[in-house]
Amino acid sequence: MIGKGLDDLSTPAVLVDLDVLERNIARMAGWARDAGVRLRPHAKTHKCPQIARLQRAAGAWGLSVAKVGEAEVFADAGFDDLFVAYPVVGEDKGRRLVALGDRVRLAVGVDSVEGAATLAGPFQDAGRSLDVLLKVDVGYGRVGVTPDRAVAVGQAVAELPGLRLRGVFTHAGHGYLAETKAGVDDIARQEGERLAAAASDLRAAGLPIEEVSVGSTPTAAQAMRVAAVTECRPGNYVFHDATQVALGTCRLEDCALTVVATVVSVPAPDRAVVDAGSKTLSSDPLRPRAGGYGQVLGRASRIEKLSEEHGVIAVAPGDVFRVGERVRILPNHACVVANLHDRLIGVSGGRVETVLDVAARGRVR
Ligand SMILES: Cc1ncc(COP(=O)(O)O)c(C=O)c1O
Repeated sequence: MIGKGLDDLSTPAVLVDLDVLERNIARMAGWARDAGVRLRPHAKTHKCPQIARLQRAAGAWGLSVAKVGEAEVFADAGFDDLFVAYPVVGEDKGRRLVALGDRVRLAVGVDSVEGAATLAGPFQDAGRSLDVLLKVDVGYGRVGVTPDRAVAVGQAVAELPGLRLRGVFTHAGHGYLAETKAGVDDIARQEGERLAAAASDLRAAGLPIEEVSVGSTPTAAQAMRVAAVTECRPGNYVFHDATQVALGTCRLEDCALTVVATVVSVPAPDRAVVDAGSKTLSSDPLRPRAGGYGQVLGRASRIEKLSEEHGVIAVAPGDVFRVGERVRILPNHACVVANLHDRLIGVSGGRVETVLDVAARGRVR
């Protein structure tokens, strides 16, 4: 496959423009350096050790992952500083974390005493200690303790034998619903400030908080500049997608991941169908406002409907599609697209340069 032109690829295929990828990696690394924070990219976006190596070479300080299984894959690939940025619960996972903790510098998210206790047991039994970061909800309303409960939960977690409270972390996922760039930036500042305030309350209660970790792609640039923030964990920025363009996080030309598909049917002048459906593009909606399931690059048309193997394009006035032609589609959400494929095709200058193995794909436990 190496050296092939894009027209020689069998479709549907997921392409990663390596030049755009490296530019995105360098840009975020530069922002983190300028802000004086450590960058711990979230590897759930790409799940590819090859991409994580590029992030490390650009100055990333460890990786974030969502699952214990992902942490195991990246440990096997030689990454030695991992944060499972998720409230991990379960003694089975605790036992795997004990084994992982022998190989890497490790930390895990917690947001309840009950959940943390399921990890403390295996670490205490093994005579080891696990670093944990308390998740604080700065407004997203998903997981995490509200700031007013941070001290009570933080203290109780810190008292559990087998655990050490290293810091606090958050993810301002509600930034994805902000209607304007100014709205995203407000959420970003709040993300940093509310987390910094929680860290300060915990310190005032006598808990030595070392890490104050923020992070999402839309909020990263602003949130990392809040004083007291020590670490940032964006994930999607390596690829970007139609959602980031809609939010004003990036320009179209900053999107590295696209899908090449073939038009397999043009049953009506206002309808064309490609061989990329929800099993290729995912059925994630565009955010912050609905807008189909992918943008056909170079055309005004969008994918309006999906079934598993069909992407139905609503043909915009002036656009024409022919059976057999190839189109490039910008997906709504690049992270889930990467997760649907075993391999991503790394391209540069219109030719295949490398094949990226999505090694941590499917490691959901
Ligand atoms: C806990 C956590 N941290 C960081 C991220 C990275 O955010 P993004 O994909 O917007 O860069 C995510 C994304 O889901 C997350 O859940």
